[in-house]
Amino acid sequence: MCGIVGYAGNRQAAPIILDGLTKLEYRGYDSAGVAVSDKNGDIDIIKAKGKLKVLYGLTDGGNKLNGLCGIGHTRWATHGEPSENNAHPHCNDDKTVVAVHNGIIENFSPLKAKLMRRGYSFYSDTDTEVATKLVDYYYKKYGEPLRAISEFALHVRGAYALAVLFKEFPGKIFAIRKDSPMVIGYTDGGAFLASDVPAILKYTRNIYYTDNHEIVSLSNDGVVFYNLDREEIRKEYTVISWDAEAAEKGGWEHFMLKEIHEQPAVVRNTVNYFLHDGKLDLSELNLSDEYFKDTESIIITGCGSAYHVGVVAQYILEDIARIPVRVEIASEFRYRKPVLNGKELVIVISQSGETADSLAALREMKEQGIRTLAIVNVLGSSIAREADSVFYTKAGPEISVATTKAYSAQLIAMYMIALKFAKVRATISEEYYTQLKNELLLLPEKIETVLGSKEQIQKFASEMMDKQDVFFIGRGIDYAVSIESSLKLKEISYIHSEAYAAGELKHGTISLIENGTLVLGILTQSKLTEKTISNLVETASRGAYVAVLASENTLGIPDSFKKVFRIPQTDEHFSASLAVITMQLFAYYLSVLRGNDVDKPRNLAKSVTVE
Ligand code: F6R
Repeated sequence: MCGIVGYAGNRQAAPIILDGLTKLEYRGYDSAGVAVSDKNGDIDIIKAKGKLKVLYGLTDGGNKLNGLCGIGHTRWATHGEPSENNAHPHCNDDKTVVAVHNGIIENFSPLKAKLMRRGYSFYSDTDTEVATKLVDYYYKKYGEPLRAISEFALHVRGAYALAVLFKEFPGKIFAIRKDSPMVIGYTDGGAFLASDVPAILKYTRNIYYTDNHEIVSLSNDGVVFYNLDREEIRKEYTVISWDAEAAEKGGWEHFMLKEIHEQPAVVRNTVNYFLHDGKLDLSELNLSDEYFKDTESIIITGCGSAYHVGVVAQYILEDIARIPVRVEIASEFRYRKPVLNGKELVIVISQSGETADSLAALREMKEQGIRTLAIVNVLGSSIAREADSVFYTKAGPEISVATTKAYSAQLIAMYMIALKFAKVRATISEEYYTQLKNELLLLPEKIETVLGSKEQIQKFASEMMDKQDVFFIGRGIDYAVSIESSLKLKEISYIHSEAYAAGELKHGTISLIENGTLVLGILTQSKLTEKTISNLVETASRGAYVAVLASENTLGIPDSFKKVFRIPQTDEHFSASLAVITMQLFAYYLSVLRGNDVDKPRNLAKSVTVE
């Protein structure tokens, strides 16, 4: 999704803004632009379609734009094609009000019509130009930026992080957000604004997380926050503990490869944070043992990979804690009318904590008085702030669009929550509870072992490089891993793939199996292995090239299967944590071999803040 950076200080703004936008590239974009105001307030705008390097070229690395205050933007097209014209910043007719925006203004059409009736004309297809001219309209009416912005907020529907320069206020940026991320930083060298922390971390670790409908003014003298009534409010900043290098490639070829390799550490950090001296401590969630006992059912919701974590968790929670669980795709769930009795716990899983559908599902549940628990990676994000309880995963910044380490950390969070439910409800023996806790501590090492077989996976990827269709099949937790493996493969290699519950294949889809179709079977659930093997044999009989990923002691794999990959033995409830690593590497190497942009796959954005 779009990225925003702003700077108001004592240094040339454009190079800082361009550098910040580079750090936000991972969010996905198709055009970019920057606006800088000089000491008289005159504002220069330069925009370009395509990658940031085009903008770097046009502005001579920012040096062509003279001024200590400015805003920049990377645009992921929603309204109107990617083009220079539609790129941000947008401005009023005499360039005295200039703005960048992330999000979607839902009522932009009626607002545009209203503004046209008042004499405004439009040069682009964007909702942002409408937003800018709406601010301009109220600025002209009330002669005051804070009032203009609060009126803007009162008249628009939708999501926005909006940053505005006014010619009459040189050296100042005014901004507001609702449901789109925006962080603020301040140091001796000036004030910063960005869609995400990595963009400004080089300059400051003191970060303010803005709440919905808070207005902020930034200048070299500091940052001031206001409510919609334009009354000044006090806010505390958070000190970011991870450093700028955590969001850098650090010698790795791609962020994705780096993040895949960070998984042992991420899993270790998350486990050690909540499990120490042999005790599982989830007191941070502020949920009493009584609550764990009395909860009647669990609803897990999220999007994409986060939803897939929920599918894994459903098997585990139902098996060890004997509690009914349903898993819902957030974009569907938010519009459903689920039958609820108030004794449910809703768990929202999200790396970014900003995914629009997951946030909306959370709000819907809160409105109905249902208790919510968020599993989130990004500190201070909207979902984290709005949920009743938060389980922060300790994955650090995830830059590659395709999630890997955050998915792994979310699994750990769900394992721990399942263990807590099982313990409090006494659905497993003390002995087995201890065994599962010990097994969690061993997972990082076992993930390292899987990473150790990466050359073998790379070789296999090179042999499979020309495949057109891939099927992932498995049963139980292996099915849950299949859907994640298939998503990972599709999104970065662009190879078509499907994931099926192994028993479901012959109810239609097996007709797609042809000579040479790659079918990848996942075999870590001992009670289900034989059944999945039979399903794999059925595809092999129809010409499929069958490869399997099995646990160390999975027996009975037919010699006719073309490849067998092994992962270490673990408790079968946790096998997703190991199996997924092989599949992430497989997708990664295929993407590299096919020459794709691994970290920024086409059409995708890291944080999906629109519906
Ligand atoms: C896939 C992927 C996406 C995200 C999904 C939810 O690799 O990254 O499917 O999992 O967009 O994002 P978050 O977790 O930020 O809510």
